[in-house]
Amino acid sequence: MLELGLKNRVAIITGASDGLGRATAEKLAAEGCKVAICARREAHLRDVAETIASTTGSEVLAVPADVSKAADIERFVGAAVDRFGGVDIAVNNAGKSAAASLEEVDDAAWQEDLDLKVMGAVRVCRLVVPIMRARGGGSIVNATIVGGKAPLARALPTSVSRAAGINLTKSLANEYAADQIRVNTICIGLLKSEQWVRRAAGRPVEELYQELSASVPLGRIGEEAEYADLVAFLVSDRAAYITGTAVNLDGGMAAVV
Ligand SMILES: NC(=O)c1ccc[n+]([C@@H]2O[C@H](COP(=O)([O-])OP(=O)(O)OC[C@H]3O[C@@H](n4cnc5c(N)ncnc54)[C@H](OP(=O)(O)O)[C@@H]3O)[C@@H](O)[C@H]2O)c1
Repeated sequence: MLELGLKNRVAIITGASDGLGRATAEKLAAEGCKVAICARREAHLRDVAETIASTTGSEVLAVPADVSKAADIERFVGAAVDRFGGVDIAVNNAGKSAAASLEEVDDAAWQEDLDLKVMGAVRVCRLVVPIMRARGGGSIVNATIVGGKAPLARALPTSVSRAAGINLTKSLANEYAADQIRVNTICIGLLKSEQWVRRAAGRPVEELYQELSASVPLGRIGEEAEYADLVAFLVSDRAAYITGTAVNLDGGMAAVV
């Protein structure tokens, strides 16, 4: 058995009321972490927190917050520290699809994407790093996409925002290794989540997954649990020698290592 050693660690996860973030909150709570989660829709977030707490027996704090707003992030991290006394693990997971061509994306859409995906992660990291340093170390995982390494055409602004997230990951890994703070990123390809249910727009989502599978060498869309397992490994003591890496979780789809 691979013992992750996560019991009683404090984990904060952004965008954790659905999809990959929710699966991660469930996994870390099941491993014994105290978990703080945020998302914008308050009632749904609170329902999810209650469900995870009752199924895992771990403490789960729900803080309604929009990660594209600095004040909301401060409130989220502050509430986690007030409740649990610190932070050991931060997962910058919140995000949304934003793929169009150059001439379709105006300045406001660029700014919105940068605020959510780049500044959201920057602000969370800036708040948690001093807390982690004072505790003797910590671990951060940033969700990005394989298109941040190998952009396709008409995938703006997200390819650019995610390239910044990959660069931020390596930059912070370099800056804080001496403080025993590890920073890694998961470069996502296609993984099942609520966003695909929405994009299926009433069609059975399995039909959409089947169509999308054609572009994946392993022949299928990834599972939420496969993301959550990778996050749990990366933030655990089993990955204590891993920092500054960008792991593709894409079934072999990207043309880059
Ligand atoms: N699934 C994939 O194939 C895939 C592919 C590429 C990248 N990703 C990335 O993986 C991450 C998770 O995606 P997912 O597929 O799990 O998405 P999802 O199923 O749509 O879930 C997104 C979660 O994030 C929350 N959220 C969205 N915007 C937020 C904001 N501004 N502030 C706080 N919370 C916010 C949502 O709740 P509220 O709406 O209530 O805020 C929800 O809980 C995202 O960063 C996404 O871009 C996923």
